[in-house]
Amino acid sequence: MSEIPSAAKENLRIREMTIDDFSEVFHIGEQVFTAESFQSLYRTWDEYEITTLFNSDSELCLVAEAAGKILGFALGTTVTKHNSPWKYGYLVWVGVRSDIQQGGVGSGLFKEIKHRMKEQGVRMMIIDTSADNQPAIRFFEKQGFGDVQEHVYMSLNLSRKNRKKTVKRP
Ligand SMILES: CC(C)(COP(=O)(O)OP(=O)(O)OC[C@H]1O[C@@H](n2cnc3c(N)ncnc32)[C@H](O)[C@@H]1OP(=O)(O)O)[C@@H](O)C(=O)NCCC(=O)NCCS
Repeated sequence: MSEIPSAAKENLRIREMTIDDFSEVFHIGEQVFTAESFQSLYRTWDEYEITTLFNSDSELCLVAEAAGKILGFALGTTVTKHNSPWKYGYLVWVGVRSDIQQGGVGSGLFKEIKHRMKEQGVRMMIIDTSADNQPAIRFFEKQGFGDVQEHVYMSLNLSRKNRKKTVKRP
């Protein structure tokens, strides 16, 4: 993948995603949401994540662009809970091309999506990521997130159970 010149990064523009951006956003996501770092998440990166969030909350689907290239994206939604007057802003996916990470693109995307959520009446933002995704955890801490709540995912392999049944005895 070609290097983004630093002059281009200076012209970074955060704007709403359009249909024409879908394929670039999808491929950046494929690059950064790897099976190793996202294996325990219940959400999987696929094209429906982009289209579903775009259909429900296009104002919260943002891309960072410089020199005509998409460098990263942030996709979010808002959630209202039964019996709660609070509106929550869920930042579902944020990803920056791996060759230009730690260059301020993620912070730019975050600043804009936070501003937009605030405008929409959001009182609390939420994010989730794998417990071992230290770069992302540090990134979110830098943006002011705290109050980490642990959540346990468990799995039951049904195919293994079936396989056991078919074992033939000598
Ligand atoms: C998380 C991610 C979006 C951050 O984007 P970014 O453009 O690299 O972040 P920034 O350059 O704006 O970094 C802002 C701060 O976050 C922290 N940070 C970012 N990347 C870090 C890393 N690899 N290690 C440690 N801290 C990091 C630093 O405190 C940094 O501030 P500093 O530059 O003053 O040290 C990007 O690393 C990424 O795409 N990761 C893979 C996908 C992912 O895990 N997404 C989050 C879950 S959906």
